[in-house]
Parts: sequence; structure tokens; C-alpha cells
Amino acid sequence: MSQPTRTITITGAGGQIGYALLFRIASGAVYGPDTPVSLRLLEIPAGIRAAEGAALELLDGAFSLLRSVEVTDDADTAFSRADAALLVGARPRTAGMERADLLEANAAIFGPQGAAIARSASPDVRVVVVGNPANTNALIASGHADGLPLDRFSAMTRLDHNRARGILAAHLDAPVADVDGVTIWGNHSATQYPDITRATVKGRAATELLDDAWIRESFIPRVARRGAEIIEVRGSSSVGSAASAAIDHLHDWVDGTAEGTWTSAAIPSDGSYGVPEGLVSSFPVRSVGGAWRIVEGFEIDAFSRDRIDASVAELMDEREQARALGLI
Ligand code: NAD
Ligand code: LMR
Repeated sequence: MSQPTRTITITGAGGQIGYALLFRIASGAVYGPDTPVSLRLLEIPAGIRAAEGAALELLDGAFSLLRSVEVTDDADTAFSRADAALLVGARPRTAGMERADLLEANAAIFGPQGAAIARSASPDVRVVVVGNPANTNALIASGHADGLPLDRFSAMTRLDHNRARGILAAHLDAPVADVDGVTIWGNHSATQYPDITRATVKGRAATELLDDAWIRESFIPRVARRGAEIIEVRGSSSVGSAASAAIDHLHDWVDGTAEGTWTSAAIPSDGSYGVPEGLVSSFPVRSVGGAWRIVEGFEIDAFSRDRIDASVAELMDEREQARALGLI
């Protein structure tokens, strides 16, 4: 039976990730095969023609679930009655930059967009920030979204989560579907902590199958620096894997997480695991009834504590920089 149409806004829709997102969303990858979708594509004037071209191609795709596509450079029009918003529009980093270098260039985009979402989107909207530095941009957007609960905002660390599963599976020559129980903590940056303390591979503890030196010296830095590795190898930042992770994030948020497992997303902290309240930090999460819930009760060993604290310190530093720039 057909469901009500859902409206999804994609910012930066004329860019690389936007292009990789649109066709999958139009084929039902977020809301499923019974839910029609309307797409709103927000761009700056310089990106409008590219977004218009993508809109023409969407039409040419004859997607049976696609009800409408609108291209605009006006944020209130773009977010009007949106059920979900993927905030992708921002400049990507290039070789030699850290994601934090983007704070000044990109963070100013997210305050006005947060305010427009609060004014115009559905009160039940779900917002996923992809544009970097994603955690702090989500903090800034939520800080300007007067009247919207904080838990409507999240930032994407699902790409890191998927990378951790993929790299582990490849190392052990196991199907990725057999790898579970991975957690990304902290910032979507090189300080993140990809934690496999509780990971299992076909039900066996990953730590029994791997030696500590590989985990600490190879696996953790590889996952944390994968974004830079992709930039070096491809010549520009990740696109297909980023779009796929954004779809996974939003799909699981609206559809729920299977019993007995969890994923990773950056959400406003409630103080869990010693992460200061309000910081948008990655946690082990499950989506229940359309809301992310932090999975509580994990024991945190000394190594993990140090790694989580280091990434949280970076998030606090980014929050200070955003304050100094007058963005929050
Ligand atoms: P891109 O340069 O190809 O596209 C960005 C688009 O955003 C451009 O078309 C640009 O015109 C548009 N834009 C800029 N400012 C805008 C605004 N204020 N409103 C609407 N649109 C605007 O870049 P991309 O490769 O698509 O990457 C986009 C962002 O995603 C970058 O910040 C990148 O670092 C980030 N990213 C995040 C992750 C993650 O895991 N969180 C992964 C990959 C990339
Ligand atoms: C990624 O992780 O691939 C993105 O955040 C892009 C980047 O700058 O690393």
C-alpha cells in the first residue's frame, strides 16, 4: 500500500555527493519501495545549473516513486515542510588540509540553514549534516534552530562506521555482513576512535582474531585517516561511499535499528560516557521510534577512555573556535 509522500531537502545538490545521492533516494533507498518522495535541491547561485541538470536527469530516470523535484537558491523554499534534510552543501577539503581547516570556510553556512529549517521544515524533521566539519556544523545548525528539539540534528559518522566494518572484513577475509558491534566515538576527523572492543565477526570476538598491535597501529589510524587516503588516491574527497553512508544513516533513523545491534552517529550528547552535554559527538546508537538513543552501559577501558577524551577535546576546541567566530 502506498504511503504518504515524503519531502527530502538536499543542500549542495549540484555537487559531487549530491549527484550520488539523488538517484538512490529517488529509487526508494531512504523511505522504502512504497513511499513516494519529493526532492528539494538547494544550491548557491554558482551551483544552480548543475542542480538543474541533475533535476533533468531525475526526470529522465522515470522513477516511479519520484513525485517532484524543485531547484532553488532560497533556503526557506528548500526546507518548506521537509521531512528530512541532508546538509551536504559545503566546500570539501583538498590534499594537505585537515577537516578542522574548513571550519572558517564552511561553518557560516549552517547557522542560517538551521534557522531556515526551524522556520520552514516539518516540526518532525530529521537533519543529517554531511558537510565538514560535520559535528560542529550540526552544533551550529541546531543552535540556530529556535523551537526545534536538539535531537532532530545529527552529523554523519556512518561513513567511518562503514569503513571500520569494511576494513575489518577485508583484513579477515570475511563477508562484511558478518562484522558487527563496531563503534565510532567522537569527531568525524583524524581524532575519531574506531572502537572494536565489542566487535564480532560471525559471532566471534574480533579481539580474539586480531593482535593488539594491528588494531592500534594499523586499523585505528587507517580508519581515522581514510578520508585523507581517499583524497590522495582519487584526487578528491570521497563521494559514492559518503552518499551511501548518508542514505544508511537516514534510512536507519526513520526505519529503526535491528534488535541486538547498533550503529554510529554523531548526536547531541546528553552527558553519556563523559561527553559534555550538548556537544555533537559520535556514539553507539540505536534508532527507536524515529529517535536516536545512545547505547548505554559499555565498559570503557583505559585506552578507549584516552582516545574518546582526545576526540572530545577536539570537539570542545572546535566549539570554542565557532564561538570566537560568532557562529554560536
Ligand atoms: P562539492 O564541492 O562537489 O559540492 C558541494 C556543493 O555545495 C557545491 O555544488 C556548492 O555549490 C554547494 N554549496 C556551497 N555552499 C552552499 C550553501 N550555502 N548552500 C547550498 N549549497 C552550497 O563537494 P562534495 O564532494 O559534494 O562534498 C560536500 C561536503 O561533504 C564537503 O564539506 C565534504 O568535506 C563533506 N564530506 C563529508 C563526509 C562525512 O563523512 N561527513 C564525507 C565526504 C564528504
Ligand atoms: C571523508 O571522510 O572522506 C570526508 O570527510 C572527506 C574528508 O575531507 O576527509
